[in-house]
Amino acid sequence: MTELVHWQTPIAEGCFQVGHRRPQSLLQCNTYLRTFHGKERLHWCVDPGSQVDYPIIRKHLKAHVGDLTAIRLFSINHQDPDVVGNLTFLTRENPNLAGLTSEDTWRLVRHLNLRPKRMYYTNKVGEETLKLANGHRIQLLPTPFCHFRGAVAYYDPENQVLFTGDLFGGLNKPGRVQLYGEEADWPGIAQFHQIYMPSRLAVAFAIRQIQALRPAVKVIAPQHGFVLQGDIMHVVMDRLLKLPMGMDLLPKELDERYFKKYAEVFQEVLAMAGVQLGRDQVLQRLQRLPKTHKLHRYIKVGQSQAALARHGIVALALLVEELTREQAKTFESLLKHVTLELCLQHKVPLPQLGVGVDEGAGE
Ligand SMILES: [Fe+2]
Ligand SMILES: [Fe+2]
Repeated sequence: MTELVHWQTPIAEGCFQVGHRRPQSLLQCNTYLRTFHGKERLHWCVDPGSQVDYPIIRKHLKAHVGDLTAIRLFSINHQDPDVVGNLTFLTRENPNLAGLTSEDTWRLVRHLNLRPKRMYYTNKVGEETLKLANGHRIQLLPTPFCHFRGAVAYYDPENQVLFTGDLFGGLNKPGRVQLYGEEADWPGIAQFHQIYMPSRLAVAFAIRQIQALRPAVKVIAPQHGFVLQGDIMHVVMDRLLKLPMGMDLLPKELDERYFKKYAEVFQEVLAMAGVQLGRDQVLQRLQRLPKTHKLHRYIKVGQSQAALARHGIVALALLVEELTREQAKTFESLLKHVTLELCLQHKVPLPQLGVGVDEGAGE
């Protein structure tokens, strides 16, 4: 028997993650298809996804539903292009498609000039439950500021699956693109929340709402990274309740009390790059930087070594940029991943490394 691939593996009854997988990328985007069986089949597409993935997502959707016009409903968590990009294509290919999202989200998405058959607004739906024509229902759970003001999670109480958008999303180590999250995936989840969520308070508020859902949630299906279930799902919720993120970290970013830890991360990143490029090559790259290069403001480069001088959060981003210049994409992804993981281990605010940026559609 041939092994089923992710988009053919149900995460619950009639529910599949149909997004594209790019093993060299640090950010995977998830789209879900939920099919309600019963008197009448009803297909629901959750977070239709990024335009760069459309050919693959379209193929996966068609393999499940036949003609795209069979999909009756889409929902979107918020308005980011990695969530809504494909609506342009889907609404064009399927004029019968109806949509579900908050008014705050749709006010922005409508500027893509798309025309679904009709819209259901989560803030207008009575009793916070959308009753579908075939008797099934979708429970609506607003998760304000996770990460958009009008973000909404969607709960399928029959399957006990919650679709959470960016909340519970994660970056992945290169190559780790399996369906379900494991302990080894926690650093990427923490990094993603530190970068994209505005504050621990917003996330903690959402998690408390999620923990109060009945029947209790069994599966969390986010728009990035891994599906969470079982012990790891509860562990991730508990850890996120305590993790500083977004605004919580801002005052610390410029705090020179972190200097010692950043200096250690700096040396470890140099060592890691040395494994790939050769230790001498790494040092020479820094020695050859023009006098006017920005990195000179933050580091000291001697005959036999280089060291951090100040402002680690800026220096690390510039260092990674220099060390990965004209190198293979795989090395760039790995060094960025290692740098973020080291910062997380040393409990220092994360530098802006451009993770998931500039990844072509062909990867
Ligand atoms: Fe987003
Ligand atoms: Fe996203």
